Amino acid sequence: RENPLVLGIETSCDETGIGIVRGTTLLANVIASSMDEHARYGGVVPEVAARAHLEELVPAIEAAVAESGIALSDLDAIAVTSGPGLAGALMVGVGAAKALALALDKPIYAVNHLVGHVGADVLRLDDRADSDSVPLDTVPLEAVPLDTVPLEYPTIALLVSGGHTSLLLVRDLTSDVELLGETIDDAAGEAFDKVARILGMPYPGGPHIDAAAATGDPRAIRFPRGLSRPKDMAQHRYDFSFSGLKTSVARWVEHREDEGVPVPVNDVAASFREAVVDILLTKAVAACHDYGVPRLLLGGGVIANARLRQVAIERTDAAGITLRIPPLSLCTDNGAMIAALGAQLIMNGHAPSTLDFGADSTLPV
Ligand code: KG4
Ligand code: ZN
Repeated sequence: RENPLVLGIETSCDETGIGIVRGTTLLANVIASSMDEHARYGGVVPEVAARAHLEELVPAIEAAVAESGIALSDLDAIAVTSGPGLAGALMVGVGAAKALALALDKPIYAVNHLVGHVGADVLRLDDRADSDSVPLDTVPLEAVPLDTVPLEYPTIALLVSGGHTSLLLVRDLTSDVELLGETIDDAAGEAFDKVARILGMPYPGGPHIDAAAATGDPRAIRFPRGLSRPKDMAQHRYDFSFSGLKTSVARWVEHREDEGVPVPVNDVAASFREAVVDILLTKAVAACHDYGVPRLLLGGGVIANARLRQVAIERTDAAGITLRIPPLSLCTDNGAMIAALGAQLIMNGHAPSTLDFGADSTLPV
């Protein structure tokens, strides 16, 4: 089937995402986040996220339908994230997708959230591209325009958000995605949030660290690069660890405070950020080398980090690797990427899911 019209539903974490695509063309990308509600708890509260999805889903579907100008009856299929993610949050999206598929008598595709992040990259943006749901102008974005370079396989994908830090080898989006490694403790975004808290910044802390780091010295403090020493690289070449780094920052700050010496917040932020960026890109570029894959794709909310984008550009340039960074509205969790993956599955002749699938919080790629 050529250019199927697909509605995608994403509820794996705190974003209620509804996207509509026609083939590889993005028609609507509506994102409602419950982040404000989680902020006072300093982290995403699963029950709060699930309840927010229940409240946001129908208005988000209505908004996406209006934005795209389609009628629900025109849809060729529904796609939904069935995992991995927060169980209760996923269940709301899966339930809604099944209800919609049954009511409209449409096929349904259950898809993997991580593969969905890669799926975002096939999208071409029409004039509605800049979804107003994410304030794109708040971060310096040197995004590669998606339609100038088509996504080529194989590609290495580095996905970094508050919930995951994963390195994937994508030989084919719909049939051959291999998880090379992932975090063994905190996700990269989680590390940013925890260090921000240590430094007295509000949640989510990533943007605050990023801003403070801009005027700090990244070489002021040499924080440890988890799992990056030669011995670790032999055993955990593609795995990530950020909890030791976080602890090291906490100790450094405590030590200063105990001595009554002022904490150079901007230097700590810059040095911490440098360590995270170094770890992420060392491993991603190593994977490109090891597999002879001269392509790297970035995804996830941490991609908003200015230094990560800058170093990614520098290191891939130096290594002759083609770098792709989708616009931020497609990097953070969204429904468009799920719809895009659904459309790819249809265009590649994959059968729809049977209705007996459920939410799977630990769904493998
Ligand atoms: O993909 P995302 O929007 O959602 C979830 O993970 O659910 O990612 C959010 C994460 C948070 O941990 C946030 O602190 C982090 O991305 N983040 C950043 C930046 N902007 C957001 N981390 C570092 N630098 C940033 N500029
Ligand atoms: Zn995600």
